Amino acid sequence: AKAPVTVTVTGAAGQIGYALLFRVASGQMLGPDTPVRLKLLEIPQAVKAAEGTAMELDDCAFPLLDGVDITDDTNRAFDGTSVALLVGARPRAKGMERGDLLEANGGIFGPQGTAINEHAADDVRVLVVGNPANTNALIARSHAPDVPPERFTAMTRLDHNRALSQLAAKAGASVTDIKKLTIWGNHSATQYPDIFHAEIAGKKAADVLGVAPDGSGGAAADDHQWLTEEFIPTVAKRGAAIIEARGASSAASAANAAIDHVHDWVLGTPEGDWTSAGVPSDGSYGVAEGLISSFPVVSRHGRWEIVPGLEINDFSRARIDASVQELIDERETVRSLGLI
Ligand code: NAI
Repeated sequence: AKAPVTVTVTGAAGQIGYALLFRVASGQMLGPDTPVRLKLLEIPQAVKAAEGTAMELDDCAFPLLDGVDITDDTNRAFDGTSVALLVGARPRAKGMERGDLLEANGGIFGPQGTAINEHAADDVRVLVVGNPANTNALIARSHAPDVPPERFTAMTRLDHNRALSQLAAKAGASVTDIKKLTIWGNHSATQYPDIFHAEIAGKKAADVLGVAPDGSGGAAADDHQWLTEEFIPTVAKRGAAIIEARGASSAASAANAAIDHVHDWVLGTPEGDWTSAGVPSDGSYGVAEGLISSFPVVSRHGRWEIVPGLEINDFSRARIDASVQELIDERETVRSLGLI
C-alpha cells in the first residue's frame, strides 16, 4: 500500500470545507490507491465546528482516511503537508475597499506562506481558493522563498467548468465534446473565457457557433452578441448569480473544482485537451512575469505547463490585457502595503 499523503485544508469548517473534505477523504482527489491524512486549520472560534465535521468523517468509515488532525496553529497545520488547500480567507465586508481586503488577507496568507516554507513536505503543492485567490497566492508564495514558485497556484477551474457547461448548453453538445477552452487572467469579473481555440466534437467552436472575432457576418452577428453579452458575462458573474439564487456563495461547485485542479495536477490532464489554472507567469502571452494568472495548462509528470504557441486575436488580446492589468494593480497594492 502507498504511504498516506498529508493534505491540509484551511477554513475547514466553512461551507467549501464541508463540501470538500468528504471528497478528499473518499479518494476522489488523489485517486483510489492513495490514503490521506487530513490536517484541518481553523480560527479558534471555529475549531469546535471543525471537530463536528471530523466526527462525520469518522462516521463515513472511509477506507483511505488515515487520520484527521484539527488545529488553530498554522505551523502545526502545515507540518509535513504535500497538498495545501488554502480555502479560508477574509471575505469583503460592506464598505471595505479593495486595499483593505488585500491587507486583511495579507495577514492570513503571509503567515501561511511562511509556515509552508518552514514545515511542509518537499513536494508541497498549494492551491489557493480563498479570494482574491490570485493575489493571495502571490502573497503566500512571496513568504516561501525555499519552495519552488510554480508550486503556488490559484483556482480558476470553477470558472473553466462554468464555461464548459455554458458552451455545451449553447451548442447542444455534451461537456465531454468540448475541448481546449481557456480562462485567462484573474479570478474576478475581469476574467476572460476564451472560446477561440475551443473545439466542439472536433470542430472549431467559433465555426460551429458562427462567431467571428471581429463581430462580422450576417447571422454570425447574433452569435457574436451571444459571446459578448451572454457567454462572457454569464461565466464571469456566475458567482454573484449563485449568491442571488441560493442565498449563499457557491460551495459544492467550488469544492468540485478544487478536487479537479489537484487531481489533474498530480495525475495529469488527458491527451488532446487542456484546462485552466492560475499559475506563475513565465512571460508567456505577454503576461507580466511572476504574476499568478490563469492560462491554458496541461499537467505532465506532476507539473503544470502553459500551453505554448496559441494565436491570440485582437478580441482576446484586449480582454486578456485588461484582466492582467487588474492583477498588476493588485500586485502594486500589496507591494505598497509591504505584503510581498
Ligand atoms: P466560509 O465563510 O463558509 O468559510 C471560510 C472559513 O474560513 C470559515 O470557517 C472561517 O472560520 C475560516 N477562516 C477564516 N480565516 C481563517 C484563517 N486565518 N485560518 C483558517 N481558517 C480561516 O466561506 P466559503 O464559502 O467556504 O469560501 C471560502 C473562500 O473561497 C472565500 O474567500 C470565497 O470567496 C472563496 N471562493 C473562491 C472560489 C474560486 O473559484 N476561486 C469560488 C468560491 C468561493
